[in-house]
Amino acid sequence: MPTIEEILKAMSTVQEPELGRDLVVLNMVKDIEADGSRVSLKIELTTPACPMKEKMLAEAEAALKRLPGVSETKVEFTHRVLGQKPVPEKGSLPGVKNILAVYACKGGVGKSTVAANLAASLALDGCSVGLFDADIHGPNIPLMMGVNGRPEGVDGKLIPLKAHGVKIMSWGFVADEGAPLIWRGPMVHGAVKKLLQDTQWGELDYLVVDLPPGTGDAPLTLIQIVPLAGVVVVTTPQDVALLDGARGIQMFRKFKVPVLGLVENMSGFTCPHCQKETQIFSKGGGEKEASRLKIPFIGALPLDPDIVKAGDTGVPIVIGQPKTSQAKAIRWMAQIVAGQISVANMAAE
Ligand SMILES: Nc1ncnc2c1ncn2[C@@H]1O[C@H](COP(=O)(O)OP(=O)(O)OP(=O)(O)O)[C@@H](O)[C@H]1O
Ligand SMILES: [Mg+2]
Repeated sequence: MPTIEEILKAMSTVQEPELGRDLVVLNMVKDIEADGSRVSLKIELTTPACPMKEKMLAEAEAALKRLPGVSETKVEFTHRVLGQKPVPEKGSLPGVKNILAVYACKGGVGKSTVAANLAASLALDGCSVGLFDADIHGPNIPLMMGVNGRPEGVDGKLIPLKAHGVKIMSWGFVADEGAPLIWRGPMVHGAVKKLLQDTQWGELDYLVVDLPPGTGDAPLTLIQIVPLAGVVVVTTPQDVALLDGARGIQMFRKFKVPVLGLVENMSGFTCPHCQKETQIFSKGGGEKEASRLKIPFIGALPLDPDIVKAGDTGVPIVIGQPKTSQAKAIRWMAQIVAGQISVANMAAE
């Protein structure tokens, strides 16, 4: 039967690929048990949405099986999600570890679609997730997540509604239906801040914020209210050229908010009848531009009628059609983003 030291030595040959160090140095190996030829242990991940989970599992099992006398292994995952570093001069949301915004320099490019799917995807991976709809003028999240109703008020706080494993708050839940919104900058700023802070989010690993269209005020408001772990930028191929000039990305950089990834949405269209791909808005520019701007390119989503249907019926494609390549692409994006947040938080510890 191997000793604990021998097991740890074996596990020190397994790297956490994103953090670039071994599991023992990172103190990720927990609950080691050896019983005859059987060894079990847990790997404590920094996020359950770790994109390298399967790789680590295979390597850990192989390393244990190389130990003399070991024939049976049981490697399981647990997690302890690290939170972003607090910024004392900014408010924080109690219990919320990481706030992640979804931004685009233009309207209608798929921010809400990406935000809803990222949130649902992180929840599918076992993270505790919130989704905040910061679009006061056109809140789309209730429709896209298939949830509506009046949030309950408890002790002066609003209890978020829940759908697809995600806690959700939207102006759409609290505004009077049909009431026209002709608010200007400062009032919108106040309303976003109040709704975000007056929501009883509870313990969240990630709060995804769906920003409204607009290059300036909306992200600035958010940056001023709370510290952000990062931002995901959505663009369509034809708007790629706007990225550089848009105030948004420059502003995120100025305020030291990491730009975690670029998504090229509505990238190419495959005809469901003849399977032929058409580059309606061209394709691929996002990847080039991301590399030029030194933003990680985290994937492309095609123009897809199923994505529209998913949005209109309130079931994000990662939930409703999990086996499609679109859903898999989004799951991967969410994991890459969660991984990057972990790396940054680990470095800051
Ligand atoms: N990859 C896609 N394929 C097809 N339709 C899409 C795709 N992504 C988004 N859409 C559709 O495009 C429309 C706009 O998307 P969405 O509301 O997510 O954009 P947005 O950037 O949040 O818009 P706004 O600026 O108004 O907030 C929606 O009807 C949505 O279903
Ligand atoms: Mg939107």
